[in-house]
Amino acid sequence: MAELTQLGKPDALPDDLEAAIADLKRERNAVILAHYYQDSEIQDLADFIGDSLQLAQAAQKVDKDVIVFCGVHFMAETAKILNPSRKVVVPDLTAGCSLADGCPPELFQRFLDKHPGHKVISYINCSAAVKAMSDLICTSANAKKMVASFPEGTPIIFAPDRHLGRWVSEQTGRPMVLWPGSCQVHELFSAKELAKLKVQHPEAEVLAHPECDEAVLMQADFVGSTTGIIKRATESKAPTLIIATEPGVFHQIQKQVPGKLLLQAPGQDESCACNTCPHMRKNTLEKLYLCLRDLTPELTLDEALRLRALQPIQKMLELSAAP
Ligand code: 13P
Ligand code: SF4
Repeated sequence: MAELTQLGKPDALPDDLEAAIADLKRERNAVILAHYYQDSEIQDLADFIGDSLQLAQAAQKVDKDVIVFCGVHFMAETAKILNPSRKVVVPDLTAGCSLADGCPPELFQRFLDKHPGHKVISYINCSAAVKAMSDLICTSANAKKMVASFPEGTPIIFAPDRHLGRWVSEQTGRPMVLWPGSCQVHELFSAKELAKLKVQHPEAEVLAHPECDEAVLMQADFVGSTTGIIKRATESKAPTLIIATEPGVFHQIQKQVPGKLLLQAPGQDESCACNTCPHMRKNTLEKLYLCLRDLTPELTLDEALRLRALQPIQKMLELSAAP
């Protein structure tokens, strides 16, 4: 609220923000898309909640005038790339991602120059500029399928997440050159503390996102995207689930299987809520209201860049839809 107070707007906020957001959504002919890492009240107001692949697919199909994207910058940017005639607004345009921010296009170009003749596959958690330098995009939900789509023996560069890249390489048997990026949230789960928690809960299943490091993934019963984790959690027979991803996913799991005991996989520092994504959580209900009211901040993109970034994303969506 400090930022809003600085803007001199606290009085402008209605008492019932949820109702005001619903009214504005109708007035603006808008749709709210939200990632599972958003606060639960934002998830409950969204027209569509999903992982990054599902959000890209949903954004492409939007026929309303405005897309309000509750997620991080690269996700909203992907929506704009796929559906440029819609106005794309985000509650907080500064919501970044350590993977996207840790792979600046100039450095990435130098990296590519050092590995000539390689096909480039980039995780969707990257900027439009890096997408434009890639042959194919993947998400955590389809990374194995996308990597396997290259003919055997193709030299491959995978960017920007070295943990996802290492895991996919192991799963597919494809050697890959990895850009050395990581997610600041997922790499803080502690394999040592997780092992201790598993001893305390021998009945538990461990569900992990592939952005976690190898020592954590080795202890997991299931590795998958946020949607994959939610699905597995609701279908699992285990009474207790230890979850190694951002705790935003708990909301949908709790709604679907309220009787299960959900435990957050432990971090390295008990005193900090480091496994909450500081970027995702920049979006708040107040900012969502203001963004719908004022239709700002808007995400815009240079058209030439958009067209170059579109090609590898479209290729991913086509390959993803294929059996
Ligand atoms: P998903 O592809 O599972 O939605 O993950 C996106 C992400 O940013 C994970 O940290
Ligand atoms: Fe990026 Fe990690 Fe946040 Fe996902 S959880 S948006 S990868 S910083």
